[in-house]
Amino acid sequence: MAQEIPAAERAYMVGTPAIEFISVTKKYGNTAVVDNLNLSIPQGKITVFVGPSGCGKTTSLRMINRMIEHTSGQILVNGQPNTDQPEHQLRRSIGYVLQQAGLMPHQTVVDNIATVPRLKGTPARQAREKALALLETVGLDPSLAKKYPAQLSGGQAQRVGVARALAGNSSILLMDEPFSAIDPVVRAELQENLLALQKELNLTIVFVTHDIDEAILLGDYVAVFAQSGHIAQFGTPEEILRVPANDYVASFVGRDRGTRRLTFAQADGLTLYPLTSPEVTAESWKLRVTDGKPDGWEAAGKCFPGGSLFIQGGSLRDALDSALSSPSGWGVAVDQTGHLLGLLKAEDVLHATRQERIQRYGIKGEGDSA
Ligand SMILES: Nc1ncnc2c1ncn2[C@@H]1O[C@H](COP(=O)(O)OP(=O)(O)OP(=O)(O)O)[C@@H](O)[C@H]1O
Ligand SMILES: [Mg+2]
Repeated sequence: MAQEIPAAERAYMVGTPAIEFISVTKKYGNTAVVDNLNLSIPQGKITVFVGPSGCGKTTSLRMINRMIEHTSGQILVNGQPNTDQPEHQLRRSIGYVLQQAGLMPHQTVVDNIATVPRLKGTPARQAREKALALLETVGLDPSLAKKYPAQLSGGQAQRVGVARALAGNSSILLMDEPFSAIDPVVRAELQENLLALQKELNLTIVFVTHDIDEAILLGDYVAVFAQSGHIAQFGTPEEILRVPANDYVASFVGRDRGTRRLTFAQADGLTLYPLTSPEVTAESWKLRVTDGKPDGWEAAGKCFPGGSLFIQGGSLRDALDSALSSPSGWGVAVDQTGHLLGLLKAEDVLHATRQERIQRYGIKGEGDSA
């Protein structure tokens, strides 16, 4: 049985809520697909709704901007009931990004982005200038402005979708599985771009995904949904991985939550061994270094590509991965410019987790006496 989450960890609300669900229910006929949802979404943070198919994530998201009307209860947006203003006005004041970008096929990229400012009465020229600036904000080349959606890659279209959602100057952005149809490499870029954008613009983002890894990467807070919009747990990704509120959450966050948790532990304290240290020179493996940068491993007269690099400032998970993926077993640490800082050991990462555990629980476990 998973442990009950301690009360202190439920005290997650920081600052003013941007969006509040108060006893919100959505029924189709007699069936409640969202049943008595109570949830506060903090301002200026990314809150992720994660959960299995059909549990009411999209319905909950769309009730915020009234693309779906709730049956009972109340939804406050910036402290005001979302039913206080006309629907179209509410919808234009909240950015919305769909899975399939949802661009208008017969309009150019720049016109797609300028849609909401134009609807709000911004003069055409000004709206286009804004749209061009937003292309850069989302990391796209301005030369794409004149293209049509069909001429874009999936990743580009998704960035245009984000630019369009930002064009209304809203402080709230709703995103429904925006990256799920994108290949993993481009997806990682889009995720990084979104995190950078959020930091810069301080947006309140509500992000829906099926993918627990995406939720943990992006979320300041994660709401784990169970059937009928019941919240199985709300907390920071770290809390959810460390103390799942119940078996449902524990099974949802999966078996390798132990290694995922290492994402939240800084690797600052790890020893970096110079190439000249006796432990390193005693090895049969030699790190090749070209212009101060690691360039693969050599052993028995052969050369082998290196594993993943540990970049300064990374987490224990990055450090462990660097060691485990390295042919020599030594992780390779570099600075932000790729220059070698030293080598690290998987054993030291495990030792660091042990120290963290002893500190957290104040109790030693098996093998902790050493
Ligand atoms: N218009 C509708 N009429 C009746 N039932 C509906 C309607 N729209 C959605 N539902 C039901 O409401 C439930 C919640 O749907 P919702 O789209 O919110 O789920 P979801 O969590 O977003 O799922 P997914 O991860 O598959 O996108 C589902 O069981 C769905 O079948
Ligand atoms: Mg959905």
